[in-house]
Amino acid sequence: MVIRNNHKKSRGLWNTRLGFILAASGSAVGLGNIWKFPYIVGQNGGGAFVLIYILCTIAVGLPIMLAEFTIGRKTCLNPVGAFQSLKPKSHWVKIGYMGVLAGFFILSFYAVVGGWTLAYVVKAFTHTMSNFSSPKEAGQFFGSFIGNTWEVLFYHALFMAICVGIVLRGIHGGIEKACKVLMPTLVIILIFLMFRALTLPGAMEGIEFYLKPDFSKIGPQTILIALGQAFFSLSLGMGCMLTYGSYLPEQENLTSATVYVVIFDTVIALLVGMVIFPAVFAMGLEPTEGPSLVFSVLPAVFVGMPFGNLVSIIFFTLLAIAAITSGISLLEVVVAYFIDQRKWDRKKAVLVTSVTIFAFGVPSGLSFGVLSEAKLFDMNFFDHVDNIASNYLLPLGGMLTAIFVGWVWGTKSAEEEIEKYETKFHWGHVWGFLIRYISPVAVFLVFCAKFV
Ligand code: TRP
Repeated sequence: MVIRNNHKKSRGLWNTRLGFILAASGSAVGLGNIWKFPYIVGQNGGGAFVLIYILCTIAVGLPIMLAEFTIGRKTCLNPVGAFQSLKPKSHWVKIGYMGVLAGFFILSFYAVVGGWTLAYVVKAFTHTMSNFSSPKEAGQFFGSFIGNTWEVLFYHALFMAICVGIVLRGIHGGIEKACKVLMPTLVIILIFLMFRALTLPGAMEGIEFYLKPDFSKIGPQTILIALGQAFFSLSLGMGCMLTYGSYLPEQENLTSATVYVVIFDTVIALLVGMVIFPAVFAMGLEPTEGPSLVFSVLPAVFVGMPFGNLVSIIFFTLLAIAAITSGISLLEVVVAYFIDQRKWDRKKAVLVTSVTIFAFGVPSGLSFGVLSEAKLFDMNFFDHVDNIASNYLLPLGGMLTAIFVGWVWGTKSAEEEIEKYETKFHWGHVWGFLIRYISPVAVFLVFCAKFV
């Protein structure tokens, strides 16, 4: 026990329960919630999609998150070390390697988009975006910005540097402290923006589009999109939550922490919709724009409203904060692997991994400029890395994690770990059923759907 505690302390620990919940929520709430969720809802039937999304989150996301936290707290290790210690000398350790690799891949392009958000904060501050007369103009502005090699690289590097600055300071002094400031800021900004959006004339039309279920747009494909989105949004499938769980002090209640993080992530996504759709409708624009909704429709929306430039600064600050608190969680997974498994010190681990991840991300950053013609199967470098990580590594990792906990390590051992420091886990049977049957099958279906 003494050895275990020393080992824990030397790796770093969350200082408070709230700090842990905010850090895990910070990982979950990111570009997935603010950039992706609204446009996916916009394209998939509004309210009906939202209902299915919530169902996927509860039935599949929540059980897997609890499984990841449990493995993490039990082993106090990074994903590779964790699977190794629970099933030594088996192939299951490969889930861990896949996770670390996925973290490396995701951060490499996530940091590019994170850089765009920083650039937009600066551009809003310097009033560079205050004279658009149409979304088309804002779109052209965006297109020429992401095609500008040096500007993109500069902000990409800046985003990585911010993540490095935080992760270098460790779990308590870096990640927890940053999230304790950034997450409340994010919530306040979001509430402010919601009031601004909801009080615009014509806002209710947006709310109606957003919340009125249109079941005619719902098909098998919709469920798969909803499940994939739930996975990405909750930071599951690559040992990110596992790693955060490994810094938990022993006495923490895992089930309630899981519920808080899932609620936090879902509520934020829903609130973001309450900002974007009213604003877009009030300005008479289309919500079905797709991925460019945030960067090329919204700046034009802001120009048209009172105090638009201020709203623009605040909105892109929100986006940047969300991206940073997720970026650091991705970096931490890779760093934890080198600290635990390769015995590097934190400084070396952070510097070496972040420089490598940045370098690997450079072609992603240039994918909309000088490298935009370099396509394979009609996808640029950015798309390929995103595709491999989000559509293959994450679902595969999530499915294998569920199978591992449900069938290999066993729900009994997992429940023992969960109940070690808390009173009876009343939902144990439900959770066991979900993790053994529902989660693996659901993720398997999503996975198969990629091929048809
Ligand atoms: N969940 C974050 C978002 O919504 C992104 C993210 C951070 C992530 N860590 C992850 C996604 C781990 C998958 C796995 O933007």
